[in-house]
Amino acid sequence: MKSLKTFLFAAGAVLISTSAYAMEGDAAAGEQVFRTCGTCHNVEEERNKVGPHLINVFGRTPGTVEGFRYSKAMTEFGEGGAVWDAETIGAYLADPRGYVRGNRMAFVGLKSEEEIANVLAYLAQFSETVEEGEGEAATE
Ligand code: HEC
Repeated sequence: MKSLKTFLFAAGAVLISTSAYAMEGDAAAGEQVFRTCGTCHNVEEERNKVGPHLINVFGRTPGTVEGFRYSKAMTEFGEGGAVWDAETIGAYLADPRGYVRGNRMAFVGLKSEEEIANVLAYLAQFSETVEEGEGEAATE
């Protein structure tokens, strides 16, 4: 179980690193939202399913989880210098097809900004933060 301190810190990290989705995400509500993602994405362990695992997705270069066969589109998106953070993941989830054209994630997207903010807060719990030197905050 993650501590309350970890949760608060993780939620805060999302707020700091977001601009387009600058609203307070609710990680508990985000866990519900993540059920839709969970069929394809793991946050429990670094094991890929239909999609790559999402542990430490914040700060990850798109298309770089070892052993996962990404689409050419996603690999090229990463090679172009993109980084996953609250803003880019938020934009991707709002419009998966439009944001990374030609990528293979078979998901329509999330319609509400609230759902996006919540799922980002949830995901942040499984990422060491993007803030330099604060990584230990996301561990047990
Ligand atoms: C039907 C399966 C499926 C569902 C549902 C799904 N995804 Fe994905 N996701 C994928 C696949 C497949 C990829 C890889 C796409 C590619 O290579 O083009 C991906 C890629 C991603 C990436 C990029 C990861 C990386 O390593 O670059 C993120 C972030 C992501 N998904 C988040 C989510 C979130 C959050 C949800 C729920 C709101 C979700 N996905 C729902 C299948 C899914």
